[in-house]
Amino acid sequence: MADALNVGLVGLGTIGTGVVRIFQEHGDDIERRLGFPLRLAHVADIDLETDRGVSLDGYRLSRDYKPLVQDPELDLVVELVGGTTVAADVAIAALVAGKGVVTANKALLAHRGDELYALAREHGTDVAFEAAVGGTIPVLRALREGLASDRIESVHGIVNGTCNYVLTQMEEQGEPYAACLKRAQELGYAEADPTFDVDGTDSAHKLVILVGLALGVRCRLGDFPVEGIERVSPTDIEVAGRLGLRVKLLASARRTAAGIVASVRPTLVPRSGVLAGVGGAMNAVEVHGAMSGPTLYYGAGAGSLPTAVAVVSDLMELARSRRLGAVGRVPPLGSVELADTGLADAAADEGEHFVRVEAAGSGDPAAALVAGLAQRGVALASLERTPEAIVATTRPARRGEIDAALAAMRDPGRAPQVMRIEREP
Ligand code: HSE
Repeated sequence: MADALNVGLVGLGTIGTGVVRIFQEHGDDIERRLGFPLRLAHVADIDLETDRGVSLDGYRLSRDYKPLVQDPELDLVVELVGGTTVAADVAIAALVAGKGVVTANKALLAHRGDELYALAREHGTDVAFEAAVGGTIPVLRALREGLASDRIESVHGIVNGTCNYVLTQMEEQGEPYAACLKRAQELGYAEADPTFDVDGTDSAHKLVILVGLALGVRCRLGDFPVEGIERVSPTDIEVAGRLGLRVKLLASARRTAAGIVASVRPTLVPRSGVLAGVGGAMNAVEVHGAMSGPTLYYGAGAGSLPTAVAVVSDLMELARSRRLGAVGRVPPLGSVELADTGLADAAADEGEHFVRVEAAGSGDPAAALVAGLAQRGVALASLERTPEAIVATTRPARRGEIDAALAAMRDPGRAPQVMRIEREP
């Protein structure tokens, strides 16, 4: 048997613990598949005392990442620290030392991916991050290699397990938002700061990666609108249900005549469609290729072991490349160059929309809503009153016109909610 390749792991949190377990429980299978041993050799975490249900016997242990990234025995380093400060230091130091880097850190990639990809090239090594989008689902690999010969027209993803779990629980169990979110945290789905989950930031990080991979275009946070699920109310879920629709937080990007339109927004999808059937913490990404048509990637989007599978599989890919002298075989985002074309204005993009304003307060909110939308040239498809709210659906209209109509209404304190209806994601 050939010599082993050695792995260092920085960060013993939810995913890091899963990585240790996979090495301990699947080590023999991994070795059989590779034809050489891949060993977890060194683990670093500021807290080495807490019992995480895995033994750390036999590993070199450090409380600081520095001895680990400088460990000459290591070939590959896993960064599972989270955040964008120490995590960046770990990844950069490891790449500069010529080690392959695997990370699940979508925030790091969304903010500093370009720098890391360039460093990997410069230092003749690889960076891999399948776990950063869709947890265990090998959707990045599919876009990077399986669909590489096609031109991708659109990508629509449910890519935040926490939000999907909360929306599913609210609809199926009628549970309050806060209780659902607390459980998602207890189940290990949520980020350390769950604000990033529920306000759409986590999905936006993932969309930056997907836009690069699927559409070959460089974009950054702030280039597209991002909304979370905090304002999705039980009324929205209930009325949507009567209309044959279900609320999902979608990260979407598609080619239009005006350019690529991208957004992260609560969106209504047909209850009979595949995305509506994605419940709990599951994730799914639907890709439309010009030649391949629709393909769907589905699986656990969060959680310790499913995400750790993606991490360890990336380690195996990098280990194979090293062994064969094929480092840099496929660029991290599938293209040697990304286009810097920018994105089209999402506010000018047309679509059917669901519009809800609260019924409380003075005046006639229904009349005000109808008049306001008509003034901006927005035609209605339906109008419904509930004790709490007025809900309209529109014919295809620009989101910018709807937002302008709501902003001009005399009582903007009516907490308006606008969601696009995607009948054919
Ligand atoms: N907090 C993330 C989620 C973890 O809920 O999807 C996986 O990226």
